[in-house]
Amino acid sequence: MALWGRPAVRALRLWGPGAHVICDGKGGHLGNVGGRRPIAFSAGVSGILGNGGSSKKEKLSLQDIAELIRARACQRVVVMVGAGISTPSGIPDFRSPGSGRYSNLQQYDIPYPEAIFELSFFLYNPKPFLSLAKKLYPGNHRPNVTHYFLRLLHDKGQLLRLYTQNIDGLERASGIPASKLVEAHGSFASATCTVCRRTAPGENFWADVLGDRVPYCPVCGGIMKPDIVFFGESLPERFLLHVVDFPMTDLLLILGTSLQVEPFASLSEAVRSSVPRLLMNRDMVGPLAWRPRSRDVVQLGDLVHSVERLVELLGWTEEMKDLVQQETGKVTGCDK
Ligand code: OAD
Ligand code: ZN
Repeated sequence: MALWGRPAVRALRLWGPGAHVICDGKGGHLGNVGGRRPIAFSAGVSGILGNGGSSKKEKLSLQDIAELIRARACQRVVVMVGAGISTPSGIPDFRSPGSGRYSNLQQYDIPYPEAIFELSFFLYNPKPFLSLAKKLYPGNHRPNVTHYFLRLLHDKGQLLRLYTQNIDGLERASGIPASKLVEAHGSFASATCTVCRRTAPGENFWADVLGDRVPYCPVCGGIMKPDIVFFGESLPERFLLHVVDFPMTDLLLILGTSLQVEPFASLSEAVRSSVPRLLMNRDMVGPLAWRPRSRDVVQLGDLVHSVERLVELLGWTEEMKDLVQQETGKVTGCDK
């Protein structure tokens, strides 16, 4: 499956606040969850749990999503993320007008935005991509509250898989194990010679990149390219995990992505129609805009704010603080 963008795609139908409903008081009842006191659910949540809700699909709110997670009614959460989750870590995204990398081409010396991820352009002039790589050098940036929220979801045993388009490695840095990750657009962990296809560990290539040198293959002299997926290239084999993960997920979270690059974007439609999808992003995007589903929940605005709101609704605020403190301490310790 090869990577391709769809720059011409626009949100055809905007759809937003209507997705949120205030609990109408017709809530059902789950009974005794894990020995704790019974929890009263909204009609939407009860509909999903199949106990007492009306048969029609009730609209859900952010609070409903929090309740589903907190009551462990959703145990196989799949998450799709993009560059928007890393902007609070100081890494610009691609398409945000003004601040996105594609609005600031002059600093990369590229003729058009996508050239930075095109093999033919890389072979002609690898420097723009290598200067982007240098900015993403591991350790230059730290995970933020969104990464740690996903880590907490994993610690709770509810993260089935995190599909990321990001190449900044911050999901790994937050402590989410590699087995839970699908780095759909590759990573800097290894590099491959563009001529003889010899592969090498990523470390070999960093010394050159940090020294502003083009990394060459020691065997044939071809340019070494880190195993980031460029347009037209195949996605890593692990991406195929989506074939098993998406049909079995019980909740899909989509965070900080414009859903403009395929085949990643279409995964948002690969979950069963009864599965709630929560989009948290600055603006309305992709299939959630033009083919909304009744159980979609959309939380527009700043991601940090939205994640903090969700964490609060989950009752995880204190645990989040502890986790961030613990992990920040670790990073600071390593820096010494
Ligand atoms: P984009 O830059 O296309 O989209 C980022 C989305 O995040 C946009 O919708 C922003 O509005 C939103 N966003 C940014 N900061 C935010 C914040 N603080 N709060 C809320 N929303 C925020 O990035 P991707 O969707 O990841 O390809 O782009 C997909 C792919 O296109 C990338 O993986 C890259 C690029 O070509 C490769 O690396 C191969
Ligand atoms: Zn070679």
